[in-house]
Amino acid sequence: MGVPPPGEAKGRVRGTIPPTTRTPRRVGYDQPPDQQGEPHPMAEQPALAAYPVGLRLAGRRVVVLGGGQVAQRRLPSLIAAGADVVLVSPSATPSVEAMAEAGELRWERRRYREGDLDGAWYALISTDDPEANRTASAEAEARRVWAVRSDDAEAATAWTPATGRSEGVTVAVLTGQDPRRSAAVRDAVVEGLRDGTIAAPHHREPAVRPGSVALVGGGPGDPDLITVRGRRLLAAADVVIADRLGPRDLLDELPPHVEVIDAAKIPYGRFMAQEAINAALIEHAKAGKAVVRLKGGDPFVFGRGKEEAEALAEHGIPVTVVPGISSSISVPGAAGIPVTHRGVAHEFTVLSGHVAPDDPRSLVDWAAVAKLRGTLVLLMSVEKIGAIAETLVRHGRDAETPVAVIQEGTTAAQRRVDATLATVGERIKEEGIRPPAVIVIGDVVAVGR
Ligand SMILES: C[S@@+](CC[C@H](N)C(=O)[O-])C[C@H]1O[C@@H](n2cnc3c(N)ncnc32)[C@H](O)[C@@H]1O
Repeated sequence: MGVPPPGEAKGRVRGTIPPTTRTPRRVGYDQPPDQQGEPHPMAEQPALAAYPVGLRLAGRRVVVLGGGQVAQRRLPSLIAAGADVVLVSPSATPSVEAMAEAGELRWERRRYREGDLDGAWYALISTDDPEANRTASAEAEARRVWAVRSDDAEAATAWTPATGRSEGVTVAVLTGQDPRRSAAVRDAVVEGLRDGTIAAPHHREPAVRPGSVALVGGGPGDPDLITVRGRRLLAAADVVIADRLGPRDLLDELPPHVEVIDAAKIPYGRFMAQEAINAALIEHAKAGKAVVRLKGGDPFVFGRGKEEAEALAEHGIPVTVVPGISSSISVPGAAGIPVTHRGVAHEFTVLSGHVAPDDPRSLVDWAAVAKLRGTLVLLMSVEKIGAIAETLVRHGRDAETPVAVIQEGTTAAQRRVDATLATVGERIKEEGIRPPAVIVIGDVVAVGR
């Protein structure tokens, strides 16, 4: 491919390259008749579709001309394909520069010159100089190197499809001259594969193997805030054991054959509630079901995820843990409060307030916490916030420190109540705040007002 054929082509490459040797424009891209000029030799042919192909570029030279936004977008896929990438450009965006610094590509800091495509299998022509692009295109044509052009799709010998990947499947879409439509089709297919609405059965490894359990962090409640992997595993489950918190709306979308069990309603008789949940997970996995344990936020942030994983491991049941977006960060964020902010807070501490500060079961050193200057994020604290605020003030935190209480964050019912450490105990009662709520204490609350 990259080696010019003997004779004419070679002479052309080394010598003066004609403006272009490309074959005619695609009929599908025809201009209106008044702009067409001379009838084109191919104008009478029906629209010619591009021929789709997957290039295996590992170890093969790919030349990228121009280090701007186009290169920045395309380079990661070329690098991921293992291509031997040579970038020729006097300048590059910071991201492209970082790829060169990381040794992911070789960067020649100069303008394009004839001969740069020697030995290339594939080229991306995207300089900001139209003349250089034309010359490079002609060189590519002469050397039989497939080339994409960012400035002139017509002049290119290859087009980049809109691509996406999901679980080892590459989706590539070409629609002719409508990149937005290509991207929209690509998004629809990738999304469908990810959430299971496009049935594409895995013939090798199912997403959740029968007899195993996936502990999935469902995020704070908004169904869009579960991870892609979590959603895919959910779509592959036979049995879902779900908490009260988390993306309940997603359960409605599950096919009718999926058994959905409300964790709060598992009868626990002689067991503790958590033991009963563990027992249910073990029972369904042992029955050969693909089980998803859907939890609110992240499974390992006050989620008892590790206890469940250990109980399953004791029975030899394989467990996958899928992290989730914790309410401790996302709920303040949804209310406009950043847990850190430059010049305001360099730290945030996440605490459980489910037992009062003077309770012997408390593992929190509230006196030490009161000395911290950064953000405090309290979970499970609605009931005890009065005592907690009073303890913080007693140990030195300013009574005027701003506080925000966010109930049912990221859901349609989200509400926020503002207070100070001095007033929060009363404000919560006045406003009838109920769990679940996240309480944020610190100057970031004022930043996010
Ligand atoms: C048992 S903890 C579980 C936390 C979860 N694993 C996480 O990472 O978000 C439950 C507490 O999380 C907080 N929480 C969870 N979802 C919430 C939401 N949507 N809005 C407000 N608070 C929430 C509340 O403080 C609630 O009492």
